[in-house]
Amino acid sequence: MTETWVILGASSSMARALVKRLAERGAALVLAGRDMDDLKATAADAEARGAPFAEPMAVDVRDAATFAPVLERLAREDGALCAAVFVGSMPPQEVIDADPSMIAGVVTDSHAGPATFLQMLAPMIEERGMGTVVGVSSVAGDRGRIGNYVYGSAKAGFTTYLSGLRNRLARSGVHVVTVKPGMIDTAMTWEMDKLMFPVGPDKVAADILRAVEKKRNVIYTPWIWLWVMLVIRHIPEFIFKKMSI
Ligand SMILES: NC(=O)c1ccc[n+]([C@@H]2O[C@H](COP(=O)([O-])OP(=O)(O)OC[C@H]3O[C@@H](n4cnc5c(N)ncnc54)[C@H](OP(=O)(O)O)[C@@H]3O)[C@@H](O)[C@H]2O)c1
Repeated sequence: MTETWVILGASSSMARALVKRLAERGAALVLAGRDMDDLKATAADAEARGAPFAEPMAVDVRDAATFAPVLERLAREDGALCAAVFVGSMPPQEVIDADPSMIAGVVTDSHAGPATFLQMLAPMIEERGMGTVVGVSSVAGDRGRIGNYVYGSAKAGFTTYLSGLRNRLARSGVHVVTVKPGMIDTAMTWEMDKLMFPVGPDKVAADILRAVEKKRNVIYTPWIWLWVMLVIRHIPEFIFKKMSI
């Protein structure tokens, strides 16, 4: 049976890498995001790789009215519905410090917007009693730190949201995977001087598909970030507050 995947934030290079792999496995695709030229190019590539269809659709998570056409499109497909959410934004912390009004946008892009979309989609997936939801959060949500605590707090909220959604959808046979990437070589990090344990977006896509197949609940990608964050989470607060990591 054909699976239909909706990819939110399909212009992210991680999303594009996942789309390639899903298309090669014969999944149908709805590619949602803001950059229509980019989405059209990804859609053409996906169809060439074997997707029965790949349809670009305009969505801005700061405007929940843009979700309705996507949900209506998905309702027309039979069988399992799956979703992978890549939307997020991470302006430099010092830019947010200079203009605190940016916080609302960061929280909407990285938590409230994607959560609203998934909340609207959930009843449709639940009713079918099968499918997978992949939510891309971040290691930044595991502990607030001086360098990116606004983005980190939004991702912490999204991680908690995904945990609750997993709890809910498990009752209908739907699996939710929380993905916590470390430092990935993408548009989001290109201005950073030095990345720790960097990997490319294709590694993230491969780890996501493995997690979906093995029904893993939470993954760190690459895996070494599980241990890095275990250490970071356990640094006592009186030491951590003096550190600039
Ligand atoms: N790169 C890393 O090291 C890293 C680490 C941990 C977690 N992550 C997370 O991984 C995900 C993908 O990030 P990336 O590294 O591939 O960077 P990216 O290319 O900047 O991807 C972010 C995606 O979010 C979309 N987006 C942002 N605001 C949006 C809005 N209001 N409405 C709709 N789409 C919006 C962007 O669309 P446009 O193309 O239109 O801007 C883009 O598709 C993000 O959730 C990010 O937080 C990244």
